[in-house]
Amino acid sequence: MDNNKRPENMERITTAALAEQFIQEQVKEIQNQVGDKKVLLALSGGVDSSVVAALLIRAIGQQLVCVHVNHGLLRKGEPEQVVEVFRNQMKANLIYVDAVDRFLDKLQGVAEPEQKRKIIGAEFIRVFEEEARKQEGIRFLAQGTIYPDILESGPVKAHHNVGGLPEDLQFELVEPLRLLYKDEVRVVGDALGLPAGMVYRQPFPGPGLGVRCLGAITRDRLEAVRESDAILREEFAKNGLEGKVWQYFTLIPDFKSVGVRDNKRADEWPVIIRAVNTKDAMTATVEDVPFALLQHITNRIVNEVKGVNRVCYDLTPKPTGTIEWE
Ligand code: XMP
Repeated sequence: MDNNKRPENMERITTAALAEQFIQEQVKEIQNQVGDKKVLLALSGGVDSSVVAALLIRAIGQQLVCVHVNHGLLRKGEPEQVVEVFRNQMKANLIYVDAVDRFLDKLQGVAEPEQKRKIIGAEFIRVFEEEARKQEGIRFLAQGTIYPDILESGPVKAHHNVGGLPEDLQFELVEPLRLLYKDEVRVVGDALGLPAGMVYRQPFPGPGLGVRCLGAITRDRLEAVRESDAILREEFAKNGLEGKVWQYFTLIPDFKSVGVRDNKRADEWPVIIRAVNTKDAMTATVEDVPFALLQHITNRIVNEVKGVNRVCYDLTPKPTGTIEWE
């Protein structure tokens, strides 16, 4: 039997009861596979790696070693939430790596989008490798691979693979979600007791805010994109758009325009809001956000986010625009 092919008669996991059944089967399977050995997991805090972590904590507890790499490109509050949920609440064995300076130093002056992605990916592997080497007796590597990653359908780039580790760090894989679709992963995450904000989170690219801080990343613009994104998310949540809109975020270009602040002309950055709906990310339509809400968000961003004097709303569907700007 092909372990990576979803059996045609496999029931879709849509209820808590079905999720519980899946969890119990997987717990047994993981325990059989792993025995008393240690398992390493790169825990980003995204839906898939979080659900894998919670499942493995249930199955093997302290034999799981989670590594959370804070590369400085996560959304506001995310690294803190990973520590709170997994270390404080679930009592996981969690290694938190503050690699912010390392990533930002490597990215300094790099403007080309694919080059930025390569640097972020390569540096991530390097940090993860260093942490893996510090651990004794790791035999397995857990990954949040899900069925669409295996099918390689759609342009949502596979980001679960910690491939690229050197030869002597090739561990046996543990991929308990590999036959599940995203909606099923969420139901399982719910059943495992993960917070809704983590389980029903919108898609977020692996290179994170790195591709939303256009051109060469600077710390001040990165902070501006993080803060404006937090305001957008807060307002969408308050106004019933969280969970309704497929993906929404802000981005910041690498140019300034003139404006007025404190009765003086001042050159500051614009922030652009993107809010789209899609089924498969191949095409997308723009959310019809109420104008008054856009005005309210604009007011908050220009008043609360340092260095930003304009807000624009991107009205472009995909095609011709892609969802991200770079
Ligand atoms: P585009 O911009 O191609 O985005 O219309 C389609 C979906 O893919 C996400 N995306 C990425 N995800 N690494 C990722 O893990 C990336 O480099 C990347 N680039 C785009 C994007 O957020 C959207 O959901």
